[in-house]
Amino acid sequence: MQDPIYLDNAATTYPKPREVYDFMHEFYSTCGGNPDRTGRSMAGRMEQVVSQTRKMLCELFGGDDPRRLTFCLNASDALNQIVQGMLASGDHVVTTLLEHNSVLRPLYHKEQAGEVEVTYVPFDDAGFVSPADVKAALRENTKLVLLNHASNVVGTVQPLGEVGRACREAGAYFAVDASQTAGVVEIDAKGMCIDLVAFTGHKGLMGPTGIGGVYTGEGVPIRATRFGGTGVQSGRRTHPEEFPYRLECGTLNILGVAGLYAGQLWLREQGVANVHAREMALWDRMRRGLQGIEGVVTYCADGAEGHTAVLSFNVLGWEAADVGAILDANYGIACRTGLHCAPLVHRRLGTDEVFGTVRFSLGPFNTEEQVERAVAAVAEIAAIKG
Ligand SMILES: Cc1ncc(COP(=O)(O)O)c(C=O)c1O
Repeated sequence: MQDPIYLDNAATTYPKPREVYDFMHEFYSTCGGNPDRTGRSMAGRMEQVVSQTRKMLCELFGGDDPRRLTFCLNASDALNQIVQGMLASGDHVVTTLLEHNSVLRPLYHKEQAGEVEVTYVPFDDAGFVSPADVKAALRENTKLVLLNHASNVVGTVQPLGEVGRACREAGAYFAVDASQTAGVVEIDAKGMCIDLVAFTGHKGLMGPTGIGGVYTGEGVPIRATRFGGTGVQSGRRTHPEEFPYRLECGTLNILGVAGLYAGQLWLREQGVANVHAREMALWDRMRRGLQGIEGVVTYCADGAEGHTAVLSFNVLGWEAADVGAILDANYGIACRTGLHCAPLVHRRLGTDEVFGTVRFSLGPFNTEEQVERAVAAVAEIAAIKG
């Protein structure tokens, strides 16, 4: 078999830049200590890497206070922090049919408990949520609007600025799930009136798994949901209210932060827009190739504008999982099939009936040749029943 092809970058980017692996190894094997808990100079380097990473990510998200860039496990953890830390009984929340289960499930549990009401705004045939629909869904008691910046199923990028301004006017807080866009598409928290950004480290940010976080804007009343050791103000009975400690407890995933640090340096050197433009050129080639195959249906893939490099499709007459299994076994192509943790997207597209879609998602290290091979493989599968 030819070299394997990795087309599952929306699940997690692979490979990471060589610099990320190297830095993590060097850093963890030469630095001992626990940030904020040791006065030694070795810990000093750790603290420097942590604070530099907060600073770089804060800049990436268009924030202005790096202390408000707090780390946690991943985007699911970050979104739980937002849902649990922002909402109170009697609140109304606006979200969309594009959301991932890491938004849907925390909200559903609150809905089930009778604590909050949730409105789910639909998306149009091209995969976009209309800011006017979000605006129309806002109520007097809407505390939070929670929006997936880019769908992990169809890759459409939502208009944050317009939604943000509508929220600001209505007095609702605006939180963005940037799992698919952090390090990929511009996010300007201040300029787009975003109050909270949830991110994960292992996708576009090029870091490892096990690290993510929340950026919280000035004046946003988020409550801590966990309490414990912070290494500072240890004589106090209660958890510190200041950021970043407010939303962090226990020893940080320092190795994860180191990976994010190296990922940021790499992204800065490449230029986020350059990496994205390159991926989208490949995506467009793949889109045209797939759309030229008889019996292949693509979803919300009209053009590269307003998209990330994610492409969902089906081969008529096939279940998505079977196509994925053949791609894996016969062609060495790694992709994802199924509902991609976003069941409401499939209900809206009608793809729940064939158990989801096949998803190809590109990363910085895919090549034209790989795209051509993937398209040819799908064409062969489509021809079997043709
Ligand atoms: C849109 C979206 N939100 C949230 C998540 C959850 O990210 P994590 O698994 O890192 O918590 C994902 C991961 O696929 C995602 O694509």
